[in-house]
Amino acid sequence: MIMTNATHSADTLDEVEGAYPFHITKEEERRLRLQGARAVPSPVIGQATSFDEYNRQLMIPPAVMDLARKAADLRLSAWEVEAMRKHLAPSESDEDMGLLRRILLKKNDKDDSHPPYIRVACTGRGDFDHLATEHGHLDSLDDTEGDIGSPVVLEIWPAQHYSPIHSHGHTSGIVFCLAGQLDVMLYDDLDWDATKLGLVTLTPGQCAWLTKETYAVHRVFCPMDGGDGTTGPGFVNSTDEFGASFHVYLNPDETAIEINDGESHNRNVFDYIREDNQERDKFTTHSDLSWSVLRRVLSSTPLT
Ligand SMILES: [Fe+2]
Repeated sequence: MIMTNATHSADTLDEVEGAYPFHITKEEERRLRLQGARAVPSPVIGQATSFDEYNRQLMIPPAVMDLARKAADLRLSAWEVEAMRKHLAPSESDEDMGLLRRILLKKNDKDDSHPPYIRVACTGRGDFDHLATEHGHLDSLDDTEGDIGSPVVLEIWPAQHYSPIHSHGHTSGIVFCLAGQLDVMLYDDLDWDATKLGLVTLTPGQCAWLTKETYAVHRVFCPMDGGDGTTGPGFVNSTDEFGASFHVYLNPDETAIEINDGESHNRNVFDYIREDNQERDKFTTHSDLSWSVLRRVLSSTPLT
């Protein structure tokens, strides 16, 4: 990788420490965006429109290029986006609350170290599937098996919400933007003080990627309008704006190239840095919802 470190001077420290989620100054943001745009290999996969861009994408590993090619035509339809908005919107009363907003509030009650986002397993079940029937969105649930570590996940990022810094370990994967806008900060290590490698913004159709060796550690943020207040621990937005992304993670034995180094870092558990004490912790990759439930809820949502 060809990159330089981003540092900040002591006189900007207060401003930096207060500025969730990336803790950087405007000047650092400008520099990190430039680094992201110049990084080799390119952190973003897209159709190259210049020789330079083609060159930057040349060394992207074939396994992730294959995932990106297969995802290239995926889009959420307009009605799916509108129905998701309805379920994310703040509500006047508990009775009127959408399924996605209800899950956000429950997740925030449990862990307010960072504003919550929603993982939707494209196979298997989610922890909050039962809310769909309990609150009258569906009459019944499918009898599907639980599934930790689904290889294919839809993530819903309410405006101004973000993930902790986390590592995808030894998996190879893609983060394909389906709706809205997402910022992805890349780090060189899983550490609160890790060097920031670059900042990229994804819009629908654009795809970030990672392997064990490259861009495995990141933080994702939806920079859209979240309404009143400043993002940070405990923040829950007051708009229906969101970004959505489609994630695929292959374990080492599922890619064409197997690196047999004896470590077991599969997608069932990811390491991350806690936002509250800035220490390492583990996240078992259970999901909040299943796509089969969410799709049925969205399709029965009136859009008038
Ligand atoms: Fe991630």
